[in-house]
Amino acid sequence: MNCKRGIELYEKAKRIIPGGTQLLSKRPELFLPDLWPSYYKKCSGAEVVDLDGNTFIDMSINGVGACILGYADPDVDNAVKEAITNGSMSTLNCPEEIELAELMLDIHPWADMVRYARCGGEAMTLAVRIARASSRKDLIVFCGYHGWHDWYLSANLSDDSNLDGQLLPGLNPAGVPRALAGSSIPFLYNRPETLDAIVSEHGDRIAAIVMEPVRHDEPEEGFLAHVRKTADKLGVVLIFDEVTSAWRLNTGGVHLVLGVEPDIAVFAKGISNGYPMAAVIGKRSVMEAAQETFISSTYWTERIGPVAAIATIKKMKEHNVPAHLGKIGQSVRNIWTQYAVKYGLNIKVHGIPPLSIFVFDYGEQTPLLHTIFTQEMLELGFLASKAFYATYAHREDHLAKYEAAIDTVFGMISLIIQQGRAEDSLKGPVAHSGFKRLA
Ligand SMILES: Cc1ncc(COP(=O)(O)O)c(C=O)c1O
Repeated sequence: MNCKRGIELYEKAKRIIPGGTQLLSKRPELFLPDLWPSYYKKCSGAEVVDLDGNTFIDMSINGVGACILGYADPDVDNAVKEAITNGSMSTLNCPEEIELAELMLDIHPWADMVRYARCGGEAMTLAVRIARASSRKDLIVFCGYHGWHDWYLSANLSDDSNLDGQLLPGLNPAGVPRALAGSSIPFLYNRPETLDAIVSEHGDRIAAIVMEPVRHDEPEEGFLAHVRKTADKLGVVLIFDEVTSAWRLNTGGVHLVLGVEPDIAVFAKGISNGYPMAAVIGKRSVMEAAQETFISSTYWTERIGPVAAIATIKKMKEHNVPAHLGKIGQSVRNIWTQYAVKYGLNIKVHGIPPLSIFVFDYGEQTPLLHTIFTQEMLELGFLASKAFYATYAHREDHLAKYEAAIDTVFGMISLIIQQGRAEDSLKGPVAHSGFKRLA
């Protein structure tokens, strides 16, 4: 596989773009250092063409979870093209803001009001500001990953490993004012006692509890209800971050399936199939606080985001897309499990089926084996990592090709483990497993 152009371009990028990419999760070092195609020329459905003209089936994170319908979905793209033709920005506001608000409130009857942003992290920051303005308190108690902003990274000021138990380890808070130390404290998912401990020490300072309702683990019986009850007891805002979890198990926030209502829910990437859009929905009693504080941005008023979100949500509803995502995700898990058994490989599978992850279970060798997996799958024409985010564009023929490739690659990995040749099988460095400074 010749991916020379992409590899060379990334070398140039690292000299003029600090950190190489705009999103940690797109760093080639997280997949296959020095060998990853890195850039794309074209993408459509479940396929990606790189700068050297190689076509890959994307069996990895599919636009980091943003493209639930698949790349370049024709229905969403046509709606966007029409919005562009009619003008995407004006002195007046676009009426699609109201149409989208009504659609979101219809799906989530507990919510009364909506504000918009364009990215997940900024929408979470907006929600946290509203919660703090509403409660007139400062402390945020949270679990999970919520973006790059000061309110979140400040958790690592008092202990730089505070965020390691959340999604991304090693996040450095350099540049976050030290005065924010202690203003955000993490608790652990499915560990209600870690929330209770923070509440008993700092209960009167808490402004909001922030969390993803589900991610890599299903909530244990009573966990979400306990969080809801805690928020009610303290009279603080419960914010569900649905940036990644929504639209996968159902057409809406996953909290609708889990049966626990937040006071605010935040949606982003998955809502608009690759076009920037984010929505913060919430109860009137809390959302009205957005009038007490200054929250405002020019490009939150452009038209493409709401138009793309309306087209995406309508298509997800009409075609029952979550059912398809569940079926494809489950098939991929079955393939992993079947071939791990066939070749005697130790793997663990996590996540809800549309957001599935497998991990090799080989102690210190594990990151090396993940890298070899990505390296060998690339040779066979797949962008593949340990995570697979299902899309509406994944079909049976993709699965059949993927299954054949997994048969080959799992077989090969099993053999090199038995023969103690794992180190010799890697053509470049081992993939990074979190944030670190690039050389
Ligand atoms: C749960 C969650 N919250 C927030 C974010 C941040 O969203 P963005 O990258 O659009 O700023 C992400 C992104 O991965 C996410 O998964």
